[in-house]
Amino acid sequence: MNRRHIVVISGAGLSAESGLRTFRDNGGLWENHRVEDVATPEAWERDRTLVLKFYNERRKALRDALPNPAHLEIASWERHSRVSVITQNVDDLHERAGSTSVLHLHGELTKARSTSDPDLVLPIDGWELREGDLCPLGSQLRPHIVWFGEDVPEFSRAAEIVSTADLLIVVGTSLQVYPAASLAWEAPENARRILVDPNPPDAPEFEIIASKASDGLKSLSSQFKYEASGR
Ligand code: APR
Repeated sequence: MNRRHIVVISGAGLSAESGLRTFRDNGGLWENHRVEDVATPEAWERDRTLVLKFYNERRKALRDALPNPAHLEIASWERHSRVSVITQNVDDLHERAGSTSVLHLHGELTKARSTSDPDLVLPIDGWELREGDLCPLGSQLRPHIVWFGEDVPEFSRAAEIVSTADLLIVVGTSLQVYPAASLAWEAPENARRILVDPNPPDAPEFEIIASKASDGLKSLSSQFKYEASGR
């Protein structure tokens, strides 16, 4: 029997209950910089120290964070369904919760990338990436993050995954950043679409669960159990 394919598209709100701040909280400011101004190739050219510091702080916060019940619910669905996670988050909390198929659209905080060869990606030991940390080719390492204005190399693979969804669950994203926000359009017409967010964006094509991720996903787990019991 074909297993149902659940595709989860997650955003910063999913990790909020782990204590990691969403991007657009506090007006999107970080030490008086707009997030968009520290997460661009131009910012890297202008002030490398600041950009490294910004991501070092985020990495340090991640080191002290744990997956929350919402991450764990998603991982638990692998017991009865095929589950693909496509996340805009750069943290590794899905993986640490046990999800085995996770695609990071916007990169990964725990990794660094060579500035001379984008395919050269290395794990970061600890939380700090410094000026003078070099790749084996001798170039400065940068955070392995897709910055504003850069291509999203994993987009087509993500679109392919969404195109085979039976159930699409969008959770914790304001759907403001493209192309990620357009991914849901790739779902087959007959796929069920659910959006979980305590402050949901306007998205008429979705069934809305207006609650925080842990509560919303727990109620979905109960639905799955009810369906499996044959009603
Ligand atoms: N549970 C679920 N959703 C929540 C919770 C929660 N506990 N708390 C907040 N939210 C929701 C907010 O209501 C909001 O809709 O999470 C969403 C977070 O939106 P953003 O901060 O815009 O985050 P996201 O959509 O992931 O941002 C997309 O933008 O900054 C860039 O590259 C960065 O990947 C990021 C992208």
